[in-house]
Amino acid sequence: MIKEYILNNKDRFLSELFEWLRIPSISADKKYKNDVRKAAEFLADKLKTAGADKVEICETAGNPIVYGEKIIDASFPTVLVYGHYDVQPADPLELWTSPPFEPVIKDEKIYARGSCDDKGQAYMHVKAFEAMTKLNLLTCNIKFMIEGEEEVGSDNLGIFVTNNKQKLRADVILISDTAMISLENPSITTGLRGLSYVEVEVKGPNRDLHSGVYGGAVANPINVLCSMIASLHDKDGRVTIPGFYDKVAELNVSERTAINKAPFDLTAYKEELGIKDIKGEKNYSTLERTGIRPTLDANGIWGGYIGEGAKTVLPSKASAKISMRLVPNQVSSEITELFTKHFASIAPDYVTVKVSPLHGGEPAVTPTDSSSYKAASKAFEEVFGKTPIPMRDGGSIPIVALFKKELNLDTVLMGFGFDTDAIHSPNEHFGVKNFTLGIETIICFYKHFGKK
Ligand code: BES
Ligand code: MN
Ligand code: MN
Repeated sequence: MIKEYILNNKDRFLSELFEWLRIPSISADKKYKNDVRKAAEFLADKLKTAGADKVEICETAGNPIVYGEKIIDASFPTVLVYGHYDVQPADPLELWTSPPFEPVIKDEKIYARGSCDDKGQAYMHVKAFEAMTKLNLLTCNIKFMIEGEEEVGSDNLGIFVTNNKQKLRADVILISDTAMISLENPSITTGLRGLSYVEVEVKGPNRDLHSGVYGGAVANPINVLCSMIASLHDKDGRVTIPGFYDKVAELNVSERTAINKAPFDLTAYKEELGIKDIKGEKNYSTLERTGIRPTLDANGIWGGYIGEGAKTVLPSKASAKISMRLVPNQVSSEITELFTKHFASIAPDYVTVKVSPLHGGEPAVTPTDSSSYKAASKAFEEVFGKTPIPMRDGGSIPIVALFKKELNLDTVLMGFGFDTDAIHSPNEHFGVKNFTLGIETIICFYKHFGKK
């Protein structure tokens, strides 16, 4: 009955999703403020027609939060679905094979910005909800909270959660905004990394200089910045900031063995990324490096002349954006402080440095012995024919730690994307099968979690 409903309505589901994907709801760029609102209104409308009794567009100091609910019986369990309708900027545009906001299906995949992260995945929940109301299958109360600022740090959602604890009362949080290993090897995400994100500036002379007249006699901020960044890792790929690893939870042998049981094909991994070899912290596998180890990476670096042709200039300053991914029990504000102190301490006398924190978030680990995890596990088993593997993901959804802290709620991270779906990159895509199987799995989750 469920499979049939999804199959019969698949084309409509997809055309609705396409309409949503056509709205460029980019939260990082103020130019798109109206589109962000349009995306919120679109969603509110779809929640209403799917059967929500109450739908609100909740204003915040930034982009609105779409809230919707259907309470069928106070004695039934309540599921709070979280997702985000904002998307990353689409640039560099020239690398897209089709325009980012004109969704198309190629090779059974939906290509568009937000197709996987997270409109496509959030929409599975809207359609699962629709199916359950239309087929009279609801065994849970459902609350939706879909925000428009995830990609810029969820600051206003944090405030909203703190101020609306009663409204958000639930038994579990359900999120589809992560990845699974493959359709053959389903997985459930059980950990997300935290984040410390800073911008640094290295200043040298009071103006750009002729690189011939002054070159060799005055420090070049770009050269200095590069060697400072290079010094942040040692030869074993470890971060050199004093205290960086102090609070890192080290996993025991059996926990590490469990992580490395997940299927991982190194050759395919390298091939898909077009790299000759991998690189990371010594004595850890790739799955451990992204799942349970903290990192430091420059995300962008600029300074001097980057226009066409050659301009012989010794720049007055250089900058970089640097992110650190954190794991339990690191604390974002502490790591930002350690970074700031260390970066200032390694600055040579001939430059001055400035470190500005941009945003942060705490890591999260979700339990695998809860009734909600078990319901999710059964749901995957039913739809994919295999017990899903618990997997730590490398990405961050900072609000998950906040849900635990403010609402004391655990989260189930039922993601249906693949790591190779190119989220945040050109040609982001999401499998049509992932979309339809996702809807089915979500409905199964409610069946197992809800009132029997
Ligand atoms: N959905 C991602 C996070 C993610 C992706 C988790 C893949 C696990 C696997 C989310 O939208 C995201 O991009 N988060 C940001 C952090 C945020 C504070 C900007 C990230 O991880 O960079
Ligand atoms: Mn996301
Ligand atoms: Mn994202």
